Amino acid sequence: MTTAPPAAATRPDTPAWLPRLTGIAYGGDYNPEQWPEDVWRDDVRLMREAGVNLVSVGIFSWAMLEPSEGRFEFAWLDRVLELLHGAGIAVDLATPTANPPPWFARRHPDSLPVTREGTVLGPGSREAFCPCSPAYAEAAARITEQLARRYGDHPALALWHVNNEYGAHVPACYCPTSAAAFRRWLRARHGTLDALNQAWGTAVWGQRFGDWEEIETPRASPMAVNPAQQLDYRRFSSDAFLECFRRERDILHRLAPGVPVTSNFMVTNCKDVDYWRWAAEVDVVSNDHYLRAEQPDNHIELAMSADLTRSLARGGPWLLMEHSTSAVNWQPRNIAKRPGEMGRNSLTHVARGADGVLFFQWRAAASGAEKFHSAMLPHSGTGSRVWREVEQLGRDLAALREVRGSRVVADVGVVWDWESWWALELEGRPSCDLDYMERVAACYERLWRAHLTVDFARPEADLRAYPLVVVPSLYLTTRTAAASLRDYVEEGGTLLVSYFSGVVDANDTVHPGGHPGALRELLGLAVEEFLPLREGEQVQLDDGSRADVWAEQVEPRGAETVLRYLDGPAAAGPAVTRHRLGRGQAWYASTRLRDEALDRLLYRVYADAGLVPRPSLPAGVEVVRRSDGEASWLFVVNHEEQDVELAATGTEQLSGARRDAALPVPAGAVRILREDPTQPTLK
Ligand code: GAL
Repeated sequence: MTTAPPAAATRPDTPAWLPRLTGIAYGGDYNPEQWPEDVWRDDVRLMREAGVNLVSVGIFSWAMLEPSEGRFEFAWLDRVLELLHGAGIAVDLATPTANPPPWFARRHPDSLPVTREGTVLGPGSREAFCPCSPAYAEAAARITEQLARRYGDHPALALWHVNNEYGAHVPACYCPTSAAAFRRWLRARHGTLDALNQAWGTAVWGQRFGDWEEIETPRASPMAVNPAQQLDYRRFSSDAFLECFRRERDILHRLAPGVPVTSNFMVTNCKDVDYWRWAAEVDVVSNDHYLRAEQPDNHIELAMSADLTRSLARGGPWLLMEHSTSAVNWQPRNIAKRPGEMGRNSLTHVARGADGVLFFQWRAAASGAEKFHSAMLPHSGTGSRVWREVEQLGRDLAALREVRGSRVVADVGVVWDWESWWALELEGRPSCDLDYMERVAACYERLWRAHLTVDFARPEADLRAYPLVVVPSLYLTTRTAAASLRDYVEEGGTLLVSYFSGVVDANDTVHPGGHPGALRELLGLAVEEFLPLREGEQVQLDDGSRADVWAEQVEPRGAETVLRYLDGPAAAGPAVTRHRLGRGQAWYASTRLRDEALDRLLYRVYADAGLVPRPSLPAGVEVVRRSDGEASWLFVVNHEEQDVELAATGTEQLSGARRDAALPVPAGAVRILREDPTQPTLK
């Protein structure tokens, strides 16, 4: 593990990270409004038994707090907060703006969101609001202000939870109000109509605009809508929700200074929000993660989500705001977690930088849409396995209090970009098999299996801390990003770029001079033609690897050919190249390699980067180190069905057991070793 922990990300103007909590946060969404008051006492008693120290309250309670316009009822929430405070449980208090009350939709029908096809989405579920609606803005500001004034200095208040998963259900609204807001946003971005016409390439299909008022949302149209317009609409929609967040955050900061503000992300589940932009605006990065229950080895996607969340938090602490103790209720088949799985999931998030583990939700709901969703306190009550595991997790997290604030030590940087993801998957691409998430996940999986820890980074970031940077299909590459990647290589970095990268700029306009435009010189090659493969077609490379989906006619211009195509449309041409530039090297894979074939390539790249993967560790054993500069903790998660033993010395953080030579990790278990300072376990 090579990268020194970066300096703590401190922003002097924003509140510190959860100043009112010590140790690791533990708890979940708490919805007392769904239960009679006599249940609340039981809740709080059981929360204490489980070691809960933080609960998120009021997320969907707008209708209970403001039963009719301008009439507020806070007495019940006063009692809830008092009860929690009396029990020493801190509160993550929500602004309930994710679901306006029924009276609001009735009074302001034009605040309802409209789909691309023009369907007005009704109330009756949740999140039925247009982010650009002035009536919504006013009402959301009003309830936020009320809450801030009433509870801003409440001793239980540890954190504000603004809204809930912005953009989750309605990623964009296509109503006339949104169209007008889009036009204002476009004026700010492009300045003049000429500049917009140029940026969007409106000469194609005669789309030239003569007046701003002619510009609409990219609503359903007979054919593919202008891709630059669609891309800008995604940026605009992400910004529109961000504007909603900022409005509430600023009220909270003004009326309750010192209390940090968050809004829960869904980093790997929500394609529609550019979380790089959002992360800079929240005081605490928090994330909701739900396992894809039926996916094999789904713990790898969990690790990826945790690493991405930590990266959004600039390496600092973050909060797992929601996950599940067992099954959810919204997947096709809601598979229950197996014994030990919930603890393993939770501690993996902690291993990867989470300083808090919360669930949806505290008590299983008796009614409503989510009654078959698991909870900390399940329908089967405290006699259940889930409850016993919840209590155990509470004890484990309490034993981890000194880990709080330490930082994950990463080996490799992986570039991640929401804008490029959006652009790559618009219509009219050379192949329907191009899939951004597939490429990122495929690379991540191989790095995970090599026991290397990943930080994600935006393409323009300073990447010099990493000996290796992987760039999966960065179709949209700005000149700034290309220059930064070039600096990285020239200064000694090793870069691996995968196919269909560097093709267009921020307006989805092809970089001039041939592909991969922005990266041509860095990679030392030109791509004369994209050669997508037929469904199921495979090509063979001269090291015996098979590849699919994509090939390219690559012409080296300084790069050496490392692997060639043996057959297929690019037969005899370069498939994988390496370009030495300055003190580093830039590798390029022009076809889709997976599994062992991708590994074979990666192991050559690791060697160039001077990275030593850990092939001696058992395949399904996950190893991550957190360090505070003095102490370090090695988290070992055994996903294998057999017990394993690692050569390690230190003291187990959870049991206090001393390990002088070997650390036994039973099948399915997690062990956390406080390493001896002079003898770090794994190099
Ligand atoms: C989340 C949401 C929660 C709850 C949960 C169920 O996306 O924020 O309110 O619905 O899903 O898994």
